Amino acid sequence: MIGIGVGENFVASDVTAILQHTKQVIYMEDGEIAEVFKDHYLTKMIANEEEVNKVVHQIEMTLDEIDKGGYPTFMLKEIMEQPESLKNSIRGRLLMDTGDVKLGGLENVLDHLLYVKRIMIIACGTSWHSALVGKYMFETLLRIPTEVEYASEFRYRNPIVGPGDAVFFISQSGETADTLAALKEAKRRGALCLGICNVVGSSIARESQSGVYVHAGPEIGVASTKAFTSQLVVLALITILLGRRKGMSEAEGIELVSEFKKIPDYAREILKQNSLIEEIAEQFKNATNFLYLGRGYNFPVALEGALKLKEISYIHAEGYPAAEMKHGPIALVDENMPVVFIAPKDATYDKIVSNIEEIKARKGKVIAIATTNDDQIDNLADYSIKIPTTRSILMPILTVIPLQLLAYHIAMKKGLNVDQPRNLAKSVTVE
Ligand code: M6R
Repeated sequence: MIGIGVGENFVASDVTAILQHTKQVIYMEDGEIAEVFKDHYLTKMIANEEEVNKVVHQIEMTLDEIDKGGYPTFMLKEIMEQPESLKNSIRGRLLMDTGDVKLGGLENVLDHLLYVKRIMIIACGTSWHSALVGKYMFETLLRIPTEVEYASEFRYRNPIVGPGDAVFFISQSGETADTLAALKEAKRRGALCLGICNVVGSSIARESQSGVYVHAGPEIGVASTKAFTSQLVVLALITILLGRRKGMSEAEGIELVSEFKKIPDYAREILKQNSLIEEIAEQFKNATNFLYLGRGYNFPVALEGALKLKEISYIHAEGYPAAEMKHGPIALVDENMPVVFIAPKDATYDKIVSNIEEIKARKGKVIAIATTNDDQIDNLADYSIKIPTTRSILMPILTVIPLQLLAYHIAMKKGLNVDQPRNLAKSVTVE
């Protein structure tokens, strides 16, 4: 994009980078080139040098949305504001009386979506983890086969995709080069392409045929936190929207949407445990490896917890489906290995408990994310962080929050720059 200032102009890949200088921007399209000078700019087609007249957009975002709001870092601010960002993602979208959901961006493609034979979800990094949660949601509640792909793999492997498929592209920035290229490829092959983006007006949002904005607000910290939980909100909303048209009863819908409404308050409850999590971080700040284990909806959360720790604390961490540990990772476990279990009281709780026992038998240190009032876990784990319980489709929105805080505090205690970790960029606009 080009930011248009007074006596100065700017070139950026994300509006937050230039917001303190100007709110007027033009978006560049593929095949266009711009010459930007101090007091004017020219936009042309690369192919024939023909001049293009660009529309100037006024950015709605305000500067206080992108300051630290009294917090020492953007990352902590963004973790702490999740009760509000979740509320914003939900606002106006739940129909409490009918147990239904309204997503304006999907209205014109709803009929198509209801009859697709297969859904694909394509993304990178943290957004890929939310895609994986989406697969569990869609397959469990909609019974639509759902494939999740890394954008970088999809675009280079001659994918089998075409008319009859619906493909969701998830991206916080809406500018990730691989995801954008995958979108163009899927579109070229005739699939229905839908965006789930946070940044309004971003390339992926513009290139998609339709979609849903995440509305988490600007995310500045390189490690994605509030955008992840809001992406999960949107995926759960889509699940209910389609579910209600595919046999989910009104009573079931009402129960789900009333639980949904409580999610921001549950998030607030979890954040009250910040000091406890900081104490746990103190115990593990010098660890060199971590394992994160979860099952079902919480397996992708284990991957996300491990990614958060890796990217900001530079500690090696791996996420696994809990039952897979006996097929390899358990060999790593000794008294120096912290293992984080995501262990809410759900259908696989007993299995997770026996996985914890296996780790304890090998002297591993267990940190458990467990449901409030779960005393059994307290007797097993070295540390437990308690969270409210809700419907399993919504649980990942909650279980990830303590993991964000754990990674945050470990990195801070190591004196690292959590907002701009080494070698990483907020918008990955190159391959
Ligand atoms: O903007 P996107 O959601 O497309 O970004 C995808 C990844 O680059 C991003 O999630 C990355 O993994 C984050 N640093 C994770 O915290």
